[in-house]
This record gives sequence, C-alpha cells and structure tokens, in this order.
Amino acid sequence: MERGASPRSVTPGRQRWDVELVRGRPRAAETLAAALGRVPGITDVQANPVTGGVLVRHDARMPATDIGRMVRTAVALVAAGTARAARPGPPRTPAASPPPRTGRGRSARPVLAVGGGIGCAVAVGVALAKGSAPSRQLAAVGAVVAATALVLRRDWRRAVDTSRDAVGPGAGRHPLVEIVGPHRRRLYRAAALSIACQAAEMALGTFLGWTGLVLIKGEAAPLARLGLTAAGAQLCGLAGLVAAACAAVAGLSYASNLQWRRLGQDIEHDWRSRTYRHVQHLAPRHLEGERTSRVAGTLTNDVGQLGAFFAGPANDVLQLATSLLILVPAFLLLAPQIAWIAFLPIPVIAWLSLRHQDKSAAGYARTGERRARLGSQVINSLEAGATVKSFCTEDFEAARIDDLSEAAQASSRHSDRDTTRHAETVRACTTASMAGTLLVGGRAVLGGTLRFEVFSPLIGLPQMLLMRMSRLGGIADQYQRTLACYDRVRRLRALPVETDAGDGTLDLPDVRGEIVLDRVTFAYPGRPAALEDLSLTIPAGRVTALVGATGSGKTSIAKLLMRFQDADSGRVLLDGRDIRDLRRRSLRHAIGFVAQDPFLFDGTIADNIRYGRFDASDEAVVRAAAMAEAHTFVAALPDGYDTLIGERGASLSGGQRQRIALARTILRDSPVVILDEATSAVDNETEAAIQRALRSFAADRTMIVIAHRLSTVRQADRIYVMDKGGIVAEQGTHDELLARHGHYASLWQIQAGALAV
Ligand SMILES: Nc1ncnc2c1ncn2[C@@H]1O[C@H](COP(=O)(O)OP(=O)(O)O)[C@@H](O)[C@H]1O
Ligand SMILES: [Mg+2]
Repeated sequence: MERGASPRSVTPGRQRWDVELVRGRPRAAETLAAALGRVPGITDVQANPVTGGVLVRHDARMPATDIGRMVRTAVALVAAGTARAARPGPPRTPAASPPPRTGRGRSARPVLAVGGGIGCAVAVGVALAKGSAPSRQLAAVGAVVAATALVLRRDWRRAVDTSRDAVGPGAGRHPLVEIVGPHRRRLYRAAALSIACQAAEMALGTFLGWTGLVLIKGEAAPLARLGLTAAGAQLCGLAGLVAAACAAVAGLSYASNLQWRRLGQDIEHDWRSRTYRHVQHLAPRHLEGERTSRVAGTLTNDVGQLGAFFAGPANDVLQLATSLLILVPAFLLLAPQIAWIAFLPIPVIAWLSLRHQDKSAAGYARTGERRARLGSQVINSLEAGATVKSFCTEDFEAARIDDLSEAAQASSRHSDRDTTRHAETVRACTTASMAGTLLVGGRAVLGGTLRFEVFSPLIGLPQMLLMRMSRLGGIADQYQRTLACYDRVRRLRALPVETDAGDGTLDLPDVRGEIVLDRVTFAYPGRPAALEDLSLTIPAGRVTALVGATGSGKTSIAKLLMRFQDADSGRVLLDGRDIRDLRRRSLRHAIGFVAQDPFLFDGTIADNIRYGRFDASDEAVVRAAAMAEAHTFVAALPDGYDTLIGERGASLSGGQRQRIALARTILRDSPVVILDEATSAVDNETEAAIQRALRSFAADRTMIVIAHRLSTVRQADRIYVMDKGGIVAEQGTHDELLARHGHYASLWQIQAGALAV
C-alpha cells in the first residue's frame, strides 16, 4: 500500500491532503493530527480516518511549501512509528494492513499457524504409524484442535485489537459480542436449536449409512445389537428412524432459522434506533462535519449488515462447529487411520480464510468508502435538480456519477476476484480431502485394517462437514464485511453528543427574557472570529432588532443563544444566568427560533405547524397560521391544512414556507422568540400584515428580529447595527439612528430610495 501524501487543494491558510496512511486508521489519524497541531503556525488539523483526508489550517503568512514539507515529514514520522508499533504484534487495523506478501512480520504468524497445522498432521501420521491406538487418537485430536484453535485465536485477538483501536481503550470485547449486545438470550436459544438440528442431521446421515450397510452386507451391526436381527426388520426400523430424523431436522431447522432471523432483525433494529438516537444528540458542529448521505448509509446499509450476519452466516458457523465437535471425536475413535486425511483441511482452510480476510478487509473498507461517496453524490445531484438543469450540466453530473460508480465498481471487482478465488481454493481443498478419505479408507478396508461397517457411515459424514467447510470462504467474507460495517457504525457513535455542564432549569412562566452578551468572542473552527468581544443587551419584553451586512455575525448570535455553538470567551446571560449553567433542553424550550432556512418536513401543512406542539388543537393551528399571514393561502389550497407539501416543502413558494415556519414558532408560544430573516422572502405588503399581527404576540415576550430589510425592524424598541466581524456599529431606535446620519441612516436612504423607485 502506498504510504504517500498528496495535496488535494492548497489555498492561503488552508491545505487539504490525501494521506493513505490514515485511511482506516483512527489512531494514526489522531497521531498525525496531534503531531501537526503542535507545529507553530498551524492552527487546526483534522485527519479523517474514513476518507484519508487531512485538512490543515495555518497562518496564511506561512509559505504553502513549508506546510507541505511539514505534512510529508509528519506522515513519514507517523508511518515509521506505526510500522514499529505493528512489528511485534498482529496488525492493528485490517483496513490498513499491507498485503501479506509484503508484510513479512505479519505473515509470520499465519505461517506459524499453518506450519503448526501441517506439523501436527505429520506428527499424527507418525503417531498413527508407530504409537498405540489410544495415543494415536489423542495425538490426532490434539493436533487438529490445537492447529485450528491457534488460527482462530489469532483472528479473534486481532478483531478485538482492531475494535479497541477504532473506539479507544475500554472496549476490550470482540466486535461480534458487542454487536449481539443485550440479545444474548436469543442467541443462546438460536444456538441451542442449531446444535440440536445439526445433531439430528448427523443422526440422519448415520441412519442412511446403516441403510446402505443392510443392503450391501445384509445387516447393520448396531441394530443387530439392539435385537433387530432380520434384514427386513432392520430396514423397517431404519425407515422409522430416518423418518423421525427427517421430521426432527425439518422442525429444528425451521425453529432455528426463525430464531436466527429474529435475532438478526432485533440486532438491526436495536443498533439502528440506538445509533439514530445518538446522531440526533450530536453536537451540531459534528453533525455539520458529516455528510448526511454517509450517515444515512450507515444507519441503513451498515446496520443492516450487522443483523444480516447473525441472520445467516453466524448460523452456518455454529452448524460447522457442532459438526466438528461431533464428528472429529467420532472419527478419531472409530477410524483413526483415515481421520488425519479427513480433517487435515480444517486448519488449512481456517488459515486460508483468515489470510483472505487480511486482504479483503482493506478491500471492503475501500469499497465501502467509494460506495458512500457515490451515494452521497447521487443524492446531491438529485437534490440540485433545478440548478443542474438551469446550468445545463446534466452531462457533467452524469459523468461525475459515472466516474464514482466506476471507481466503486473497480474496487468491488478487485475484492470479488479475491473472494471467488478464495472460495474455489477452499472447495478444492475439501474435495481433495474427500477423495483422500475415500482412497485411504478404501485401502484400509481392502487391507483389512478397517471394517467396512465402520467405514461406510463415515464416508458421508465428513463430506457433509466438508461441504459446509467449503462455505467458510463466504462466511469469512461476510464476517469481514460485518466488521467493516461495525467499524463505520462505531465511528459514528464515537462522535461526541451534546452534554450539559450545568443542570439549571427554567420555569417557562417566570422567564422574562433579558439577554446579555458579555464580551463574547466566537469563531468557527479555522475561521477568523465571527463575533469579537461583543457586548450587547437585549431588554426583556421588548422587540430588539439586529441588522447589518451579511456575514456580520447576526445568525451566529442566534446560534449562541440557542447553544448550537458555544462562545470561545465571554458569557451569554438569560435573565442574569449564564446559559451554560442551564440544561440545553430547558433553554431551547424557552426560546422559539425561526431559522434563516427553516426546514419543513414531508407531510401536511397542519403537521408542520404542529411540529413540537403535537397536542395543539386545530383552532390553535389556524390561529397561529393567521398570525403568520399563512391562513389565507392555506385555506385557498384544495386540501387546506391537509395539503401534502413534499420533501422540504417543495410544493410551496419560499415566502409560503417561511410563513408556515413562523406559524410553527408562534404556536410554540415561547417567552423568547428569535426571527432570523423570517420574512425575507415575503413581499412587503404581507410582511407589513405579519408585523401588525405579531404586535399582539410580541406584547408579553422578548423578540429578537434579525433582518437586512430595514422596514422589517422599523418599529423595534432597539436596533443594533452590526458591522463586519461581529461588532456593534450603532444602536438606538429607528428615529435616533436616522438622526445620527450614520451607517443606518445611509442604509435607510438606499432602501427607502429603492422602494420609492
Ligand atoms: N458553519 C459555519 N462554519 C464556518 N463559518 C461559518 C459558518 N456559519 C457562518 N460562518 C461564517 O461566520 C461569519 C458570520 O456568519 P453569520 O453569523 O451567518 O452572518 P449573518 O447571519 O450576519 O449573515 C461569516 O463570515 C460566515 O462565513
Ligand atoms: Mg444570517
């Protein structure tokens, strides 16, 4: 794997790099970010272990080439550190493992494992030739079990290590154990049914073997011992036994399949709800940093795979393990001569599968990432429908999707080839072993060292087992997919949620709504300060307006009040209490907020107005709509308040959407209300009507009106005029500000003039 770092975009003060080293390696990403973050002049570093992207923000006066050199040096240092750390133990993260061919240290262990397997098999051979019967059997059992256990243990450990690497210390459990979580009881139930079903299947195989024996030899010794001596009676007895075993297999298989599927569904549902709940509580700055479609992909596909693994492959693994547990001792007791050849493939296949896993892990991480990018672009392009059409860029968009789809296809093709090759290798091993069993067993029967009666039922049973083993390739594949999906789910869940430092609450009727910003400085990560040392007072029970150029920090003030963001320094007080001492929910209940780009849900108009006050009566909904000047246009629609408005309210005009959002906030009836450009898309006449209607609404509450159209704020009790960088340039009432002949007065001149024209 290439360990390089290549620049993706370089602008003054900001560089984006693609660093292969951090892809799929959260630890390496963290280390790199920390290392670069310590360099003087570099202000912020974000390394994304999913995409491999590294964003470096720095003092714009530093030459870009210097930054580039530092990034490369840091990558080289981290790479050296990672290689050192990886040498003594198993690789930390499969996604970033170099292929086994190039990693000598890494391939040593599987080689040891398979070497152990083969060595044990040789030892078995020697023991078979020389030792006494019990010692031969013991040696054989021990060898097969030890070699298999060695290989499996190695994998289990590695998965635990990887999981710890992805989510940090403390999670020392295997991902599968974590995935099952509280559904362990159902897992046990399903497992018990599967084991019983497998035992029944083995019994069926034995009965069929005996049937063959009766037909060829005239009798089956075990039945004769039970008192059934005549061939006819034995056949009848066997028919009954076969029928009973068939019925048991069918019933148990049905019940166990049902249980496994239920388990899969429970796991999927559980992970989806828990993860979604987590996502809902993420701090806004983290949610903004994640692509919506990527999060959606994790909540649907990745979580689905967690359940699917338990609904299918987990059952297969258990059946395989059960057959092994029953068959290996049976074989070794009854026909130790041929046991080694029958079971030799087990450790070999286990090793092959795990080796394949090493390779496929990186492939699955890459394919998953490319698919996520594709999905994200598809949604983006679809949502941009009107823009695409108006710029006639349909072909450009189609080509973009084509490229991404091709990239996803290429990486899938690569993993598919590996997977298919692996499955066929495993099948070749199992069939070779079947042939070997027949040949070696046949020779033993001909040579008189093995009785045909013993050999005959044993022919079919290992075949059953080996057929199942041949599915191990597919199972390992699913397992790998599941780990990759689990990794993505865990990463999403590792993002921090909003937490409350203080647990103060507000009693809504007592909230007066006086808001004080006390020397507040706030900057978005990597940006210059949006608000700098800003102090202002918003008196209780009055209408206060914030006006000013776009980008002057008006919306940022609203975000601070809602605690979507927190000030870097300074305090925000509500009725004299620092809002950081209050619970967020309590604060947000006290403040009604109409955002600049309000979101309407796919549903009816009434549903949207009622959002957040689900128990509101129809009359209250209509009253709120009337106050927001929405009632007239809603009533004119054929379905009135039951009109479906499509995704994001697509079937409404911008001004209509704003009025619905306003009605929603009016209905909420909070003591403090922030209207952020809430009527910017509404015509002047309607806006004037809304203002008249809002006057009674505003009478007993604190209103903050953010606007760029000065006519909106003319009636306000106090107007703050914001300048770039979040500074208050002027303040006062409309008349006072006009009398000052300052910035506000000239803006008013321009806007009034524009209106007059
Ligand atoms: N999510 C964000 N991430 C980074 N910068 C932002 C973000 N939102 C706003 N800004 C920047 O902060 C500054 C103030 O923005 P904002 O408060 O939205 O201004 P206004 O509402 O007055 O137009 C602007 O320079 C804007 O580019
Ligand atoms: Mg704004």
